Order: sequence, then structure tokens, then C-alpha cells
Amino acid sequence: MWPMRTRHQGARSLDQTVTPLAARRSGPLKGRVRVPGDKSISHRALILGALTIGETAITGLLEGEDVIRTSRAMQALGATVERAGAGNWRVNGVGVAGFAEPAAPLDFGNSGTGCRLVIGAVAGCPITATFDGDFSLRSRPQRRVLDPLERMGARAESVAEGGRLPLRLKGARDPIPIVYQPPVASAQLKSAVLLAGLAAPGETVVIEAEATRDHTERMLRHFGADISVEPDGPHGRRITLKGQPELAPAPVIVPADPSSAAFPLVAALIMPGSEIILDGVMTNASRTGLFLTLREMGADIEELDRRIEGGEDVADLRVRFSGLKGVEVPPERAPSMIDEYLVLGVAAAYAHGTTRMRGLKELRVKESDRLAATAAMLRVNGADVEIKGDDLIVHGKGNVPGGGLVVTHMDHRIAMSALVMGLASDKPVQVDDTAFIQTSFPGFADMMRRMGADLS
Ligand code: S3P
Repeated sequence: MWPMRTRHQGARSLDQTVTPLAARRSGPLKGRVRVPGDKSISHRALILGALTIGETAITGLLEGEDVIRTSRAMQALGATVERAGAGNWRVNGVGVAGFAEPAAPLDFGNSGTGCRLVIGAVAGCPITATFDGDFSLRSRPQRRVLDPLERMGARAESVAEGGRLPLRLKGARDPIPIVYQPPVASAQLKSAVLLAGLAAPGETVVIEAEATRDHTERMLRHFGADISVEPDGPHGRRITLKGQPELAPAPVIVPADPSSAAFPLVAALIMPGSEIILDGVMTNASRTGLFLTLREMGADIEELDRRIEGGEDVADLRVRFSGLKGVEVPPERAPSMIDEYLVLGVAAAYAHGTTRMRGLKELRVKESDRLAATAAMLRVNGADVEIKGDDLIVHGKGNVPGGGLVVTHMDHRIAMSALVMGLASDKPVQVDDTAFIQTSFPGFADMMRRMGADLS
């Protein structure tokens, strides 16, 4: 199929182009590939580089639409950001609290992470900035970040109904450090408060009941900030950041994104005869809930050459086709696999037996309502699925009939999950729009085709 023009109403990024695609039973998947750099780390490298005086060199940056939006925002706020070659970027920053007032609204496109992290960083600066995004981002709640940031002295001068974008934020002239307990497990929320806390005197403390991805903490330490992390309760952490540090430039090496690796990985598990190697995948424990769950389901995932790269654990993952069985996924695992439930839903449909994924409330406020969208994606392709409260239940039959058209709702991960599902289903799976894959995994379809996938 070919790109088409759309008449989509409302703010939409990605060139107003709709790109349908279909996946057909194919394979086996064979080959050795490296998926693009981690999205979370890429955003943070640009933002912390921009808050540092001097030059930060970044290698392996994800050059997806979401991260490019963050790089443009950093430029609009006064940093110099240059691309020196594929994945190699240089940032010359302005120092903590040094952002300049941007001349135009900052448009984050589809990216909740870029937007919320930069809201936090701007909240600690004496400037006013307008934040906006596409139709999907405009529908996502921002109140959760504004509440603590207003306690720190920032003010939402105008915000759309329901605490949504567009938002005009006046940063604090004299930010106040706070002790904050996020009401939801969210690394974006934690990071927004820590980034604002950089500009505050004294200690900003975040106490998480459920530990979330810790890239902000690690990178702050890497840039010389005084930050301590202690366990708090059975699953939580207490993070203490000493404000007003002078951040020192430090090179960042971005490992391959485990959330992107999830797609070829699950494809290899469900396509008979497959064996692939995914190079340099980050295995930070705050991100590997999917790998743990798939192993419990019987997946053959081997970690080769475990090593540390750029301060993160990485390994090459050898993945072979595996017979999977249904399992229970506990709610406390959600933060370590929050972006992976869609593709886990696909694996669960190909498994034998029931998989119950508990406590997925947060999925409702992602790029789309992913709880509803995952169920719809599976159901329209003949899988047996239910939603009970905040739980997703998939009754795996060992195969998926396929033949459905999946609506992606401007959500990259729905598009990739649906395509993976169609590589082993009886009939092809059609996807209405794959343009948004560009936000996180440029080159996805070509990489899958090179390994033997039929996507056309
Ligand atoms: C991210 C945190 C998660 C995740 C998102 C990336 C981050 O969001 O879904 O894709 O980089 O901090 P929440 O913090 O809202 O759970």
C-alpha cells in the first residue's frame, strides 16, 4: 500500500500523511540487528545537555520524530543542538535555570515524554513558554505534572479544559524545593519534578511508591549532580536531589531501546523456526518486565555478552521461536513494562492458556487508550480477550485468525504490535496508519523485512 493524503481534523504532525500497511504470515525471522537508541535516554540526554554549560556529545541518539521535537525545543530555549553524523549529536547548553524565553510555542508533536520533561525543566526558569502537541498529545492529562510544579512556584497561565494542552506555563523566579509523593507511578512525573528541582535551592525529594525507570537519576549523577536514591517500602524509592548544581558536560552513549526491541523479539517468538540476535539492548531492571514475563511464559531469550555501556547494563539478546503458555502478570510489574503490554497482548494471544495482566489503569492515558485499543486490536483479529476493571485478560489459543483492520489512533506501538501479530496469523492483519512508527522506531518495517517479514 502507499501513502495517502488525509483530511484529518485538528493538529496532526507527521506531514498529514497516512500510511497503511499489511502484515502477512511469513518467516522464519533470521538475522542480527540493532534497534534504534532508547527514547527515554535520548530525550534526557538532550534536555540535560541543554542545562549544562559546555558541550555534551551524544552517540546513538534515537532520530525519531519525538526526540527531534525535543531537540528543537532545546534550541528554542537557547541551547545549540547540532547533528554531527548519524546518531551523533552535540549540545551546547545554557546551564541550570538558564533557558531563554522561546519566541514561539513549543510543539512536541506526539511526545508525552518530551513535553512533560521540558515542562518540568521550564518550571524552574523565570520564563514563560507555551506547550502544544498533536491531536493525541492534546488529549492527554497534564494536571499531574502541573500540580507539583505549581507547589514549586510555577504557574499555568492558561491550559485547555481538563488540564490539557495547549498550556502556557510561567516558570518560577525563585523555585521552592518540595517533598513529593507522586499519586501515580510515572517516570515522566518524577522527572519533571527533579528537573524543576535542579533550579531550586536545597533538597527536592521524590518518594515513589512504585519504582519507575531511573534514567533521569542516573543521568543527573553522570552530569555531576548530587543525587541519592534509597529504597522506600516494598517496591518504592526515595530520591533526594541537591538543587542548583553546576552540571558538567559528560558524553552520553545511548543503548538500544528495549521497548523497540520488544517488537522483533515477540515476532521471533511467534514465527516458527525463527532465531534472531538483537544487539546491545538495554537491560536496566526498571525496563525489563516484558523479558521477565515472556520468560515465565516459556520464551527462549538468552543474554549474550552482558556488559555496561554508557553507564547502563546491556546485552545481545538471542531469541528463538518458543511455545508460550499463559501467565499472571502482577500489577507491581507495570512500571517496568508499561509500554510493552500491547505486544505482550500479541504474545499472549499466540500462547496456550490465559494471561491476565493486572493493574493497567495508566494504559488509558498513553498515546491512545491502550487498554481499549489492545483489546480492540486483538478482538478484530479473532483473539479471545476481555477487560475486567483495570485488567486485560487474553485467552490464548496458540494461533490468531487475523483478517482484521487495526485502528492505530496515532499510536506507534499499536501499529507495530498489530504488524507483529499479522506475521504469524492465518489471514493478513491490516493497519490503518503506520506513519507514527516514525516517532520511536524509524526503519522498523525495513528492518523487519530484512529479517524475513512480509510487510506490504
Ligand atoms: C517514559 C515514561 C513512561 C512511558 C513513556 C516514557 C519516560 O510514561 O510510558 O513511554 O521516558 O519517562 P509514564 O511516566 O507516564 O508512565
